[in-house]
Amino acid sequence: MLIQIPNVFSKEEAAAIRQQLEQAAWIDGKTTAGALAIHAKDNQQLAEQDPLAMELGQKIIQRLSQSNVFMSATLPAKIYPPLFNRYTGGGTYGIHVDNAIRPVAGTRERVRTDISTTLFFSEPEDYDGGELVIEDVYGPREVKLPAGHMVVYPGTSLHRVNPVTRGARISSFFWTQSLVRDDTHRSLLFQLDGSIQSLNQSVPEHASLVSLSGVYHNLLRQWADV
Ligand code: NI
Repeated sequence: MLIQIPNVFSKEEAAAIRQQLEQAAWIDGKTTAGALAIHAKDNQQLAEQDPLAMELGQKIIQRLSQSNVFMSATLPAKIYPPLFNRYTGGGTYGIHVDNAIRPVAGTRERVRTDISTTLFFSEPEDYDGGELVIEDVYGPREVKLPAGHMVVYPGTSLHRVNPVTRGARISSFFWTQSLVRDDTHRSLLFQLDGSIQSLNQSVPEHASLVSLSGVYHNLLRQWADV
């Protein structure tokens, strides 16, 4: 399941964050790449302990918790503290799959990367290239979103970032360990939850609402590990 969530931050909020990030202490992205990915990766990142990364990461996590779509689609058990990257001057990230387990720097926590998220902070017209290309079952999908919007996709997907040939592409990315490990199960729960919400909006007294939400919770009980 690949979903786009618009307006996680407004245009103005995203611009303010981008300005802060433009002044940030960017380092070579290869420092956090896995053994194979290191060959494919040509970008810049903020260190995990960078104070600005930690401050903005908190802001993002807070915003996610207010997003019903994100919560319903991902059913988070743990969210990796958001990271930040920048592609410029032909920077790219060749095709790869993210590492399955990510230790959280400075803690004993580990996050299983069931779901990947990219939150865009640059406006698409300010750079050329930089599309996030995700291979899903229907073929490759190219994603390049306005600042403040984000894309959520299965951590199991092959993906890459096209070279940025003009301007700079700044974004945040992070992983979510879901209560429901299997993407197919999560998709079904997301669809069912959405249908229940819309039925509840249009026919709030509908007799089937109770039994449908019972089905939702009983499937979640079957599929969740906590
Ligand atoms: Ni990746």
